[in-house]
Amino acid sequence: MPPSIDTLTLTRPDDWHLHVRDGEALNTVVPHTAAQFGRAVIMPNLKPPVTTAAQALAYRSRIAAAVPRGMSFEPLMTLYLTDNLPPAEIARAKDAGVVALKLYPAGATTNSDAGVTNLRKTYRTLEAMQRAGLLLLVHGEVTSPDIDLFDREAVFIDQQLIPLRRDFPELKIVFEHITTREAAQYVESAGAFTAATITAHHLLYNRNAIFLGGVRPHFYCLPVLKRELHRQALVSAAISGAPQFFLGTDSAPHPAHLKEHASGCAGCYTAHAAMELYAQAFDAAGALDKLEGFASFFGADFYGLPRNSGQITLRRETWTPPASFAFGAAELKPLASGEALQWRLQN
Ligand code: DOR
Ligand code: ZN
Repeated sequence: MPPSIDTLTLTRPDDWHLHVRDGEALNTVVPHTAAQFGRAVIMPNLKPPVTTAAQALAYRSRIAAAVPRGMSFEPLMTLYLTDNLPPAEIARAKDAGVVALKLYPAGATTNSDAGVTNLRKTYRTLEAMQRAGLLLLVHGEVTSPDIDLFDREAVFIDQQLIPLRRDFPELKIVFEHITTREAAQYVESAGAFTAATITAHHLLYNRNAIFLGGVRPHFYCLPVLKRELHRQALVSAAISGAPQFFLGTDSAPHPAHLKEHASGCAGCYTAHAAMELYAQAFDAAGALDKLEGFASFFGADFYGLPRNSGQITLRRETWTPPASFAFGAAELKPLASGEALQWRLQN
């Protein structure tokens, strides 16, 4: 591929980690994702969380109803793992087309109160998942207040992930939204049953973005942005062509007034320009030729699903997305609101 290509046509990509919320919010965010991606793995951290196959099916219908006419988009559903999720639910989930369960350590992030307090309590359910071929998606941070916020991912690998990996050697695990060199190194060496998603914001920004010229809450997410050396390690992993690294935006919409708040919510909204942001990151690394594997092939392969057949085209063009979107009665401000982007999706 020539070094300064201006048009990029890719197999239609998928988003392997997405928050769309519920109710009115769906009408804002689902069209953004459906315009770019063929499928997305939908996170189950609603209030209350999605913990049964029946709830997942009902949620899938509400999401499908928010897909604009003429667009084809498939939500891939997940359940929220709790201390008490019965192993018998796994067979029902499999029958309903649920693809994975999400592990939130209790208290780690937005709506994680119902999360897992001790992994041992979930072992019978994990065994059922391993047998049924359902994936485990992991929010990989310890929650202990004694551990520095910036170290929580690296500590999670040693304390939780390595023992889990040993106890369930054939459970497919996705280490979600990795943010550190340690996580990238771990996943690289963890074998064929372990993969990781990487967000666009963790490829584009380091932790300085949160504090540049004052506290900037729209750059606050969990796991929090890290130092530059970690950003560089994530870019290297994403452009390496190694199939265990693939796209997951973790686009996580919150009403602007709850982010611009004394105790602001964690989450960056990127679905409005997801592929544009990834293209910018891969372009900056001189690796646009590696974007298609990362965005369109490796996730589907790991999940054991067919690759998409359609295509999308991105063109090099300077444009500025809207600074905010209507979000029910509130406002939704995307990441880098008001800043120009260098790539644009063609429709
Ligand atoms: O920043 C985040 N936002 N991290 C998460 O883990 C959850 C997400 C959300 O749901 O808002
Ligand atoms: Zn998430």
